[in-house]
Amino acid sequence: GNESTVSITVVGASGDLAKKKIFPALFALYYEGCLPKHFTIFGYARSRMTDAELRNLVGQTLTCRIDQRENCSDKMDEFLKRCFYHSGQYDSEENFAELDNKLKEHETGMVANRLYYLSIPPNIFVDVARCASTSASSANGWTRVIVEKPFGRDSESSAALTRGLKRYLVEDQIFRIDHYLGKELVENLSVLRFSNLVFEPLWSRQYIRNVQLIFSEDFGTEGRGGYFDSYGIIRDIMQNHLLQILALFAMETPVSLDAEDIRNEKVKVLRSMKPLQLENVVIGQYKSHTKGGVTYPAYIDDRTVPKDSVTPTFAAAALFINNARWDGVPFLMKAGKALHTKRAEIRVQFRHVPGNLYKRSFGTDLDRATNELVIRVQPDEAIYLKINNKIPGLGMRLDRSKLNLHYAARYSKEIPDAYERLLLDAIEGERRLFIRSDELDAAWELFTPVLKELEDKKIAPELYPYGSRGPVGAHYLAAKYNVRWGDLSADDPHN
Ligand code: BG6
Repeated sequence: GNESTVSITVVGASGDLAKKKIFPALFALYYEGCLPKHFTIFGYARSRMTDAELRNLVGQTLTCRIDQRENCSDKMDEFLKRCFYHSGQYDSEENFAELDNKLKEHETGMVANRLYYLSIPPNIFVDVARCASTSASSANGWTRVIVEKPFGRDSESSAALTRGLKRYLVEDQIFRIDHYLGKELVENLSVLRFSNLVFEPLWSRQYIRNVQLIFSEDFGTEGRGGYFDSYGIIRDIMQNHLLQILALFAMETPVSLDAEDIRNEKVKVLRSMKPLQLENVVIGQYKSHTKGGVTYPAYIDDRTVPKDSVTPTFAAAALFINNARWDGVPFLMKAGKALHTKRAEIRVQFRHVPGNLYKRSFGTDLDRATNELVIRVQPDEAIYLKINNKIPGLGMRLDRSKLNLHYAARYSKEIPDAYERLLLDAIEGERRLFIRSDELDAAWELFTPVLKELEDKKIAPELYPYGSRGPVGAHYLAAKYNVRWGDLSADDPHN
């Protein structure tokens, strides 16, 4: 058969995401030899630019990973030679027809596959989908479109966006990114569960007391307030990144590793959940704080944020899955900006050992003696299990130790960025790590009522100092379910 080529068009080429993530990820794939033999990259945006100017712009964003230093600058030059630019309006079929002509020059005689990455604000997704599909889709290969959140701000607006996209594209052409699904340890979650004997038998209400999904950043919105203020942390992190992790964590064993089999199981979990209740949410917003002579700004000091904003920059929530496996097990989520650390992790707290023979050796606090499995998604990736162990020596004293799989110590290769895996999957047509439209609907259904209620009642967030551990309300929410946040346990600084 004919040889094939892929044309990757980054729409919104001069934007932040394109510069920070997409071009660098494409280059890393190129360096590794993962891109097809024939490929062309186009930047598309409104501003006038020559190919040389785009190459210069992209060139500045490229770096070589530690394990990709060899011939790095030659590789960069080769890569940049395959980058081009076309300037046009986002809603102009004519401008996309011009792009189509340019793409064709690179595609002659080959099966021409086309991938569009919409690195643009969501209010123009549908325009671009229309123009790309009517004026610049492939005549003899596939045409795929990658989009990234926000996918609306509630069930209704999300459904409207889906309808808009589906006027011009079929579901199979739409690749909805949740970049957390491209993270190494999130992908590993299913490997851990389904290729080991020792976890899955414990993976239920019978042994697991609660599950915690924690996201924290040690910086604020820092100029991104314009986008953030109309969404807030629940839409920015919980409804997508943390919920996706929850679904993978809690789903039943899929029939196979095929995308549809996995996504079917994820949807089932989401649809088994109760919508989040107001009494199970705590919201917070960071305020200014001075430490060591440095003053850190409040959220409302961000010039792109209204002074009276009640948008949460922190939220904690308790969610439940009404199925046989998870009945009554709290899934606690916590997400916040401007906290004391930067990390994302999953913490699984197990039940007490019934009739524990060693009760006395722990002193009074039996809670501290339960097993905890921690999957640290970032930074410093690790999987560890906290166990009780005898302190060596005469006598019988126990302490807490870790069985620790520390990625940096175990694996020497640097972990690829999430966008590398996702771009590669989109090129290869692997949909496993992308969000299907029914998944998206189910995710919104869980959060839409409470988001409406928070907004209608203008519920004021609890203020917490920049760089702190967040509002104390999160502690009370967990305590209501007899839970302690694992990342805050004082006895264990490295927890
Ligand atoms: C994005 C959010 O989806 O994820 C940002 O919009 C957040 O607010 C970012 O900072 C975090 O991603 P990562 O990969 O840096 O953990």
